[in-house]
This record gives sequence, structure tokens and C-alpha cells, in this order.
Amino acid sequence: MAVTYTIRDSVAVLTLDNPPVNGLGHSTRLGIVEGVTRANEDASVSAIVLIGAGKAFSGGADITEFNTPKATQEPTLLTVVEVVEGSAKPVVAAIHSVAMGGGLELALSAHYRVASPGAQIALPEVKLGLLPGAGGTQRLPRVVGLETAVNMIVTGTPVMSEKLAHTALFDELTEGNLLDAAIRFAQRAAEQKGPHPKARDRRIEHANAEGFIQFARNSVAAVARHFPAPHKCIDAIEKGVKEGFDRGLAFERECFLALVQTPESRALRHAFFGERAASKIADVPSKTPTRSIERIGVVGAGTMGGGIAMNFINAGLPVTLLETKQEALDKGLATIHRNYEAQVKKGKLTQEKADERIALIQPTLAYADLARADLIIEAVFEDLNVKLQVFSQLDEVAKPGAILASNTSTLDLNKIAAFTKRPGDVVGMHFFSPANVMKLLEVVRGEKTEKDVLATVMQLAKKIKKTAVVSGVCDGFIGNRMIEQYIRQALFMLEEGALPAQIDRAIETFGFAMGPFRMSDLAGNDIGWAIRKRRYQEKPDLKYSRVADRLCEIGRFGQKTGAGWYDYQAGKRDAQPSSVVDEMIVAYSKELGIERRKIGDQEIVERLVLSLVNEGAKILEEGIASKASDIDMVYLTGYGFPLWRGGPMLYADTIGLCNVERAMRQYGWQPAARITELAASDGRFNS
Ligand code: NAI
Repeated sequence: MAVTYTIRDSVAVLTLDNPPVNGLGHSTRLGIVEGVTRANEDASVSAIVLIGAGKAFSGGADITEFNTPKATQEPTLLTVVEVVEGSAKPVVAAIHSVAMGGGLELALSAHYRVASPGAQIALPEVKLGLLPGAGGTQRLPRVVGLETAVNMIVTGTPVMSEKLAHTALFDELTEGNLLDAAIRFAQRAAEQKGPHPKARDRRIEHANAEGFIQFARNSVAAVARHFPAPHKCIDAIEKGVKEGFDRGLAFERECFLALVQTPESRALRHAFFGERAASKIADVPSKTPTRSIERIGVVGAGTMGGGIAMNFINAGLPVTLLETKQEALDKGLATIHRNYEAQVKKGKLTQEKADERIALIQPTLAYADLARADLIIEAVFEDLNVKLQVFSQLDEVAKPGAILASNTSTLDLNKIAAFTKRPGDVVGMHFFSPANVMKLLEVVRGEKTEKDVLATVMQLAKKIKKTAVVSGVCDGFIGNRMIEQYIRQALFMLEEGALPAQIDRAIETFGFAMGPFRMSDLAGNDIGWAIRKRRYQEKPDLKYSRVADRLCEIGRFGQKTGAGWYDYQAGKRDAQPSSVVDEMIVAYSKELGIERRKIGDQEIVERLVLSLVNEGAKILEEGIASKASDIDMVYLTGYGFPLWRGGPMLYADTIGLCNVERAMRQYGWQPAARITELAASDGRFNS
């Protein structure tokens, strides 16, 4: 039973019991309605207490029912809320730990609320591109006031119960036993003559409601340009302010139904579920035992090693950081210190906390010091011979059962695993730069990687707050393999008639955080050059534009050399279009005998995004990624793909696979087999 019914001292206690957070699934909703009805029919009962078992009052909608018929089956939450509010006997909501979304809306429909301090109170629907759909936009402003309610509903951010103690949201805050306090409160309430107070009957008090709403609208316009939901939240609240509760409620419903259908909400829900889905691996059951990870080793204190180490010390795990030379070690440590100093300066961290974290690093030049580590991550030069040396040494010193990870971005993980006598313990942990900031972690599964190694790394990723996505072994894994095709297209378009600034502007208008040329200038154009030189050997038949090689030949490696596709003023990151580069590009087209043409922004966006989609489809066919949403998570968290479009594969679904296929053929490409199949069957990558 999702709701239990007991009677204590003539008070009916309805206990929501649907772990982990008492989600308001169908059986919970039904249990509440039945419980309230039964209590009203039972003459020995004088009042009702609604309370949550376990870790929450209620976390809101049951996410396992999302997109299933049960989600909309009666009694819906709207019905539940009506039944509770309409109860002749007083209903007291007893709130602890979490009252979010539908859970808070349920509490708002009770006549009285008693809470424990430390409970998180929120209406987070906006984070899924929605608004609260069971009266939240109408009742919350009536109990906490217009300004607090607008902030809570528009941002979705939780507020602690004690911060709301002074509002009409809570009739009592208790440090003692919550159920006892709620029952006592209910008994007192039962002695009062009804009808009992309803949030809907309260007035929204504000000296200048119209002015405040306008102010809120302006603030939202500045930060939520691409998302309709925050605007609709304000519209719904305003309706209630101006036209009263019932009209406000009807309008809230209308907005909710419209928002569910928007591509933005679909994208946000896709990202929400995609993140959860990414952590599940089909053939690695969730109960797979994990290895205990208490001490980390990091080999290499360069750009990546330093950032990787910071992730773990931030999570309180000690790190032994190894370099070959004292000088390199000192340099790496100095960078880590500087990073923390900057955070302290910005007020993001106290000096004390920063010192505590830095003290968790044990710098060393001796491999023997890695003997106690449970997980060792290698981040040395991208050279198979160097990796061979490192992994042979790790194999000698690491304790049995230690996980050996490589941060390689292009090398064959199976080869690296074969450098040891324990390939089952070897896995790829591909962090993105800056490693202490970027959310994405590609977990590379080698042919022999053990299941418990994968389960352990996925669990650890959560601890260091990364979005982990599993990738099979291939050159570039999921993210970089796709981006290579995107850059290839960008370079072809330079030859054909576009200039870097135009291409960047077009794709940035589409929503990418940074266009391909600004991105290359930031990463260093020499990196792509090195990869291309390798490709010219490996795949002599694959056509590449050599225009980027020309750029490198004149030493324009990007921001680090003060010049790349753009010019940079010393110490600044602003990209200024460069006449030298633009002339070089035009001359290059002439050399190839290409008559430059005007390329429209639509073509630029299509060729860039669809090149990602085509390679993504191949990655799915080959099983490098096990589901399309994994690819989308890689692009949302690691490559600045616009969140409101949900990632390249969801974007392809949105425009329709037959349109995707048609556009590809128009550009003379060979669509991946998966695309042709889906186009023919009216299918989707994310079904
Ligand atoms: P880096 O050149 O900044 O750092 C490498 C460090 O490894 C240097 O400090 C060097 O002294 C040290 N090192 C070299 N041989 C060593 C050995 N035998 N034992 C111990 N330390 C040794 O290079 P970066 O950029 O940090 O790259 C490291 C690895 O991370 C490479 O495999 C690279 O492909 C990968 N990677 C790099 C990314 C980036 O954006 N820079 C992103 C993702 C992965």
C-alpha cells in the first residue's frame, strides 16, 4: 500500500509510503483520496494528518510513471488536491525533509501545515520546462507572498522550511517529533468550528503587484531567452493576482498543457531522464558490487592531471599526484593553488576549506607511493610509448584490485589495457578540459573491462558530480569522433565561400556556446593539426580541407599564441576577425579553383549539426554508444550544445528523420544506415 491509514487519538493519520521520496504515483493518489473519504465518513475521527514515511513528505510526481497512462489516470493530482481542500474535517500536512513539486501542491491544499526545520520546499517544475500544474502558481503566492512565490516558481530553487517560518505556509515549526506535533495540532483544529482555512481564499497582498510582476518579467527575459516556461509561470501568477483564484487555476492548467508540448520542455525532460539513463548499463545490473575507492592516484600533473586531482580532493578523497620531475610537479601544484586562490577571491570557497582540500594532495616522484591507491588515473602525454611505460610501472606497484584508468582522448584503450597483466581492471576515464569544471566524463569500456570496474567508476562519477556516459573503444570515443566531422564540414565551408566569423555566428545563433573556430582557437589549433596529420596516413582516401593546416603553418595556434582563426589582444579572449586569415582563406579557394559562393546561415547550421547526427548514428550502429540519449548527454554536458534543443539526436528526431535524410542527400553525403532505416519507418532515435 502506498498510503497507510491508522487512527491515533481520534486523528486519522495518512502515511505516504512510496519510496524513495513518496512520489505521487497513481496508487499514492488513490490512497490519499480513499483515506480522506474514509476519515470523513468515520464518526470517531475528528481530523486528518498527512505525513510522509522515510526520507520525504513527498518529492512530487512519480518519475517512473512519466509518459505512462498512469500519470494522467484519475484521481489526478488536481482531483487529490480538491478532495483534500474540500474535506469537512481539518487536514494537517506534516512536512519533513522534502516537499517539492506536486508534494508541495498537496501540502498547500491542506488546511494547516506543521513542519520540521531543514525541509526543502520547492516547485521545481520549471526545470523540466513546465509549471506547477496542480494549483502551485495560485496557492503559493497566497501563503508566502508574491515576491517569494515568484522567485521560487520561476527558478525552481528549494528554500529551507525555517526560512519560510514567518509566512502563512507553516502554522507551526517543530523541533520535536513531527507526528506528535501534527496530531496535537489537528486535535486543536478539530475543536475549532469549520470551515477550515483554505489557501485559495487568502488574498495576495502586495503594495505594487503590477510593478513587481513587470520587474520579474524583465528579469526573466534577460536570463530565460530560450525557455518559455519561466514566462508562463509569471503569466499564470499574474492571472491569479488580477482575476482571482479560479481563473488563475484554469489558466495555469492551460499553460501546463501547452508547455508539455513545447520542444523546450521535451528537451529538458530528455536531459533529465537522459542523465539518469546514462548511469545505467544494460548488462551491468544495478546491484553489481562495487570496489571501495578511498584513495586516488593521478599520474601526470599537467593540464588534465591537475584538474582531475581537484575533482577528488573537492569530494574529500586524498590524491597521490605523481610526476617524473620535481619541476613539473611544482608547476602542476602551483596551478592547483592558483585555482583555489581564485575561488577564495571570488568568495566561492573559504581559505580554510581551500587549505583542507590542498592538504589532501600528496605530491610524489616515486611510483611506490601509488601502492595504496584504489584507483589510479593516468594523464600523461598522448603517446602510446609513454602510456606503455606508465602502465607497466603501474602494473608493478598497484595493489591487487586497484582500478587503472587512462584519460587518453584518442589512443586505443585495449592496447593500453594489454600493457598490464590485469586488463580487466583497466578502464578509460576521459575527462574534458578544464577537468575540474566540465561536467562530462566519458567512461571508456575496453574489451576486457570488468563489470564491477564499470559499476565502481559510474558510482564514483556521481560522487565527483560528473555526468558519466559509457563509450566503447574507437578513435575519439563518442564526443571527439563526432566533433571531427563537424569541424571537417566547417573547414569545407571556408573553402566554398564562408568566413570563420560567419560560421561561428550562425551556429552560436542556433545556440551553441561557441562556434567551431572560436572553440579551436581556445583548444589550440595544433591539436587538430596533429590529429589530421595522423588521418592523412591512416585514411588517405578521406577528403579533408587543408585550409586549417595553412593556418598552423604560419604559427596561428589560437589564443595561446595570440592569433588563430581570429586575432587576440594580449591578455584578452575576445576574438577579432582577422583580415590576414580571411585573405588567406579567399586565396586558398582561388588556388583550388573554387568559385566562392554566399553560404546561407541555414546551410551552415544544417551541415554542422547534421554532420554530428550522421556520425552519431554510426556510433549507435557500431554499439559505441548504447543509446541515443547517451550521445545527447555527451553533447549537452561536454560540447555546449543548446540545452533547449536537447542534443543532436533529439534535434534530429524533432525535425524528423526523413528531413534529415533528405538534407544529407542534398549535400551529397551518404546517410548512415540507421538514418535511412528510421526515415523509412518514421522512427526516432529516442523513442
Ligand atoms: P600536458 O602535457 O599538459 O600534461 C602531461 C603531463 O604528464 C606533464 O606534466 C608531464 O610532465 C607528465 N608526464 C609525462 N610523462 C610522464 C610519466 N611517464 N610519468 C608521469 N608524468 C608524466 O597534457 P594534458 O593536456 O594534460 O593531457 C594529458 C592526457 O590527457 C593526454 O592523454 C591527453 O590526450 C588527455 N586529454 C587532454 C585533454 C585536453 O584538453 N588537454 C582533454 C582530454 C584528455
